Amino acid sequence: MPDQIPFSSLPPLSDFQFSPEARLCLNECSLKLDEILQAIPERDRQIFQLRLQRWFQNLHDGLAPVYGHRKDFNGFVQRLIEKMALAFVDRPAALKLLDMKRDLQPDWFQHENMMGYVFYVEQFAGKLSGVSDHIDYLQELGASYIHLMKVMQSREGENDGGYAVTDYATVDRALGTNEDLQQVCTDLRMHNMSPCIDLVLNHCASEHPWAESAKAGDEHYQGYFYMFDDRVLPDAFEQHLPEVFPDFAPGNFTLDEKSGKWVWTTFNHFQWDLNWSNPEVFLEIVEVMFQLSNLGVEVFRLDAVAFMWKRLGTDCQNQEEVFDLMQALRTCSRIATPAVAHKAEAIVAPDDLIRYFGVGRHHGKVSNIAYHNSLMVQYWSALASRDTRLMTRALAEFPRTPNSIAWATYLRCHDDIGWAIADDDANAVNLNGFAHRHFLSDFYTGEFPDSFARGVVFQHNPATGDRRINGSLASLTGLESAREQGSEYLVHLAIERILLGHALICGFGGMPLIYMGDELGLLNDYAYSAVPAYAGDSRWVHRPKMDWTKAKLRHEPGTIEARIFNGVRAITQARRRTQQLSARYDTEIVDLGHPHVFSNISRHPIGNLVGLYNFTEHMQWVKIIDLPDVASLRIVDELEQQLLVTDDGHIQLSPYGRLWLS
Ligand code: GLC
Repeated sequence: MPDQIPFSSLPPLSDFQFSPEARLCLNECSLKLDEILQAIPERDRQIFQLRLQRWFQNLHDGLAPVYGHRKDFNGFVQRLIEKMALAFVDRPAALKLLDMKRDLQPDWFQHENMMGYVFYVEQFAGKLSGVSDHIDYLQELGASYIHLMKVMQSREGENDGGYAVTDYATVDRALGTNEDLQQVCTDLRMHNMSPCIDLVLNHCASEHPWAESAKAGDEHYQGYFYMFDDRVLPDAFEQHLPEVFPDFAPGNFTLDEKSGKWVWTTFNHFQWDLNWSNPEVFLEIVEVMFQLSNLGVEVFRLDAVAFMWKRLGTDCQNQEEVFDLMQALRTCSRIATPAVAHKAEAIVAPDDLIRYFGVGRHHGKVSNIAYHNSLMVQYWSALASRDTRLMTRALAEFPRTPNSIAWATYLRCHDDIGWAIADDDANAVNLNGFAHRHFLSDFYTGEFPDSFARGVVFQHNPATGDRRINGSLASLTGLESAREQGSEYLVHLAIERILLGHALICGFGGMPLIYMGDELGLLNDYAYSAVPAYAGDSRWVHRPKMDWTKAKLRHEPGTIEARIFNGVRAITQARRRTQQLSARYDTEIVDLGHPHVFSNISRHPIGNLVGLYNFTEHMQWVKIIDLPDVASLRIVDELEQQLLVTDDGHIQLSPYGRLWLS
């Protein structure tokens, strides 16, 4: 018997669950499939067909609410299926193997050995090919996920740190070629590291060929954007829209001189919002996503997704259609390139944030990973106030997540810190939200008396009083001021704050992301202001070049670099050994009733893990009987710190001490 099963004898569609509409649509749309799939062996064809059948309902459920009312809906779905089939046909064998591996281990990104490292390629390695030269460094740190930033071609001059893309499918010529990207992805994959790059979904550069055609009057491409003949609709929308960059890019619309139209530009005037209600935009982006996936990209950071859908009378963020579109995009990856995961960048309030993992009809179907902005903000808040009550309250109130996802936990990234602290949470712990946010800005600019921080204000908004903050982890935690003062004691405290933060993000159960330079204590880089394209954007203060001379000091015992690097490495190594920290096991917040110690618990069949984090420069004590499920704890510290238990039943935490008790 030949090992060939014709498509018709594959399990019937009814094996998978289909609504009548979806079944009809799939039947109509699969017509040309056999022709496309001819190019690949029978077994591959069957695999594609099975995946298509398995996930088609999810795809249909995502697309129908957005595009289903269009006469050409089935034609659109057919084109999409063809794109998926073509992507699968083109997919290199090594990546098809990875697809199979991930089919067997769909929770790969939740594993306790996942740890991310994030950098601008140019700052870290000069060029893409240089990244491969530093794989030993990444391995030494324990990274298994590498977010490469500003990879695709962006506009000349100001480009919002690369987020004004002129060509989604071509590597920035200053960094190398698509072959270089493919090579780096291969090198990383060979070392068990998953490459991630940005897919900027909400907007492209005003110099992108689509935008250039739109400016020249091409109606097809004008349909890719939101362009208005006059200010009537823009003014109506503006009534409910916040400003993302109130300082250097006020307003949400820009007059394009060439076409004479007002263009929707949520971010900068040179970033034109894409019109996702147009299915052509969906098809364009899917095609790019597949091209990059087939070069070996394993995770897409979906940039600024909250803004992808506009609705008059709302703030045009987190609209239901965003989740439909994201579900559809993710399903496209699941069908054609299933090794690929999606990470949402949505810096929004908790109840909205949770929707990026999928709630209700989208449950678990939207993205795999999302940034835990609140954890990051609460770390900085508790560090400044030396008080963990707000942190405990805000994180305890956080909605629960599906167990198929992972939080990206982080302390710093390439962006600013905005004080996303809800008034309700503040009130619940007898704080005034406005006053506390004001205090945090004062504290992190160093204006507040005795502040250890050296940060820079970003986007002061006089209307709301908001002042966001920039600065490197080390400068914000006091290393810069401690070095200036030449105080070993203050240096010690700054290092302890840095390690406290890393223990927190590694002990929270998601996927921790370390931002380049934080592992060495790199300080603010004030030289950015001399570079014209960066000068207006103080986020560049914390986007320094990697200092490879300093990096060498990590092997010189006693240096600041060695103390931080080895401290961080010890934490990431402990994390790899600690199964409770898999993202599958949700973290619960423990209210110890202690004003200075934060605590969380991960419950696991092999035994629980309780984290304790002292947010002050003083000793703190926690009563053992206050710990949750204390009978099940052996009181072993997985971080291998000095564990001191007093005679009267207290656990002692050193200044900024952290313990993972199992
Ligand atoms: C994301 C990026 C940020 C950028 C913005 C607009 O928030 O992280 O750097 O400015 O999107 O693309």
